[in-house]
Amino acid sequence: MQKQLPGLIDVHVHLREPGATHKEDFYTGSRAAVKGGVTFMLDMPNNATPTISIERLDEKVALSKKALIDIGFHFGTNGKNLEELPKAAARSEVYGLKIYCNHTTGEMLIEDQNALDAIFQAWPVGKPILVHAEGEQLKQSIARAMKFGQRLHVCHITQATEVEDVRQAKAGGLSITAGVCPHHLALTGEARERMKGYAVMKPPLGTDADQAALWAGLADGTIDVVETDHAPHSREEKEKDPPAFGVTGLETSFSIIYKGVQEGKLTEERMLEAMYTLPKKIFNIPEQPDTYIEVDMDASWTVGEHGYETKANSSPFEGLVLPGVVTKVVLRGKELMNNGTIIS
Ligand code: NCD
Ligand code: ZN
Ligand code: ZN
Repeated sequence: MQKQLPGLIDVHVHLREPGATHKEDFYTGSRAAVKGGVTFMLDMPNNATPTISIERLDEKVALSKKALIDIGFHFGTNGKNLEELPKAAARSEVYGLKIYCNHTTGEMLIEDQNALDAIFQAWPVGKPILVHAEGEQLKQSIARAMKFGQRLHVCHITQATEVEDVRQAKAGGLSITAGVCPHHLALTGEARERMKGYAVMKPPLGTDADQAALWAGLADGTIDVVETDHAPHSREEKEKDPPAFGVTGLETSFSIIYKGVQEGKLTEERMLEAMYTLPKKIFNIPEQPDTYIEVDMDASWTVGEHGYETKANSSPFEGLVLPGVVTKVVLRGKELMNNGTIIS
């Protein structure tokens, strides 16, 4: 059965341009997006030269013009660019402020509690603050959002205890949303043995109990959106010791979640909410008129069998047989993919 769906939205990708175009660039990253049925995505600021000034933002906006789909940006902070934050928040290309509270790819970690307070104070209330915050850092971020009246989006939630923290914060009336990655839903620590560096990312893969809590949280709406955290690195970088943190996700996201639907872990309605309606609402993403995708819901495919669109050329799901093949992508009336072939 061929089904027409809205163009999917991914609010968390790393397209690596400028600074690391051996991993990905706006063009190859957008091809990976089209392959996965995504027509709007939001790029993260942890580049080699981070997106922490208006000058860097302008540079990125210009570079992104070669993409096949629409791209927005999250602005970054190193704690020393406070005067740039209101200027960035006022820009239509900026959808949120990203803060790194744990060590991960990039040099943007902020641990100083006073610096974090100052950032939450300097960002104008309105567009969300996104945090990479694991465990204790998440609890602190929730308290800080409450204190400064900020909307908080919790990126790539991973642990069962974190799902519970978000559930309680929501019950307490905080304006908080959370995203979950397909790899945390579909894999556990066991994959580290099989996939080696290709299953290494931050936050790391969890336990069976974490995985069950993530599906339950996604099903009951505690977790609002699916976000890929598409974080490409070269095969060489994934095979070295220690491997680079981060995995690709744009090409496989729909199929991983649809597999969950087929297995009764969530409804098709929730899937579309998490991959289109809620990302659009939470980040105030503009309407894309005359935009849709077509998916062959009965077909299946083997990850990696015909290579990848992402320059990273790998997936933590390599070899898996997944349901749902995106066959057509139309953006504002223009065909970007037909019969599974990207038109560029
Ligand atoms: C991301 C990257 O490579 O940019 N890596 C990752 O393991 N998720 C950074 C991040 O999202 O933490
Ligand atoms: Zn992160
Ligand atoms: Zn990320």
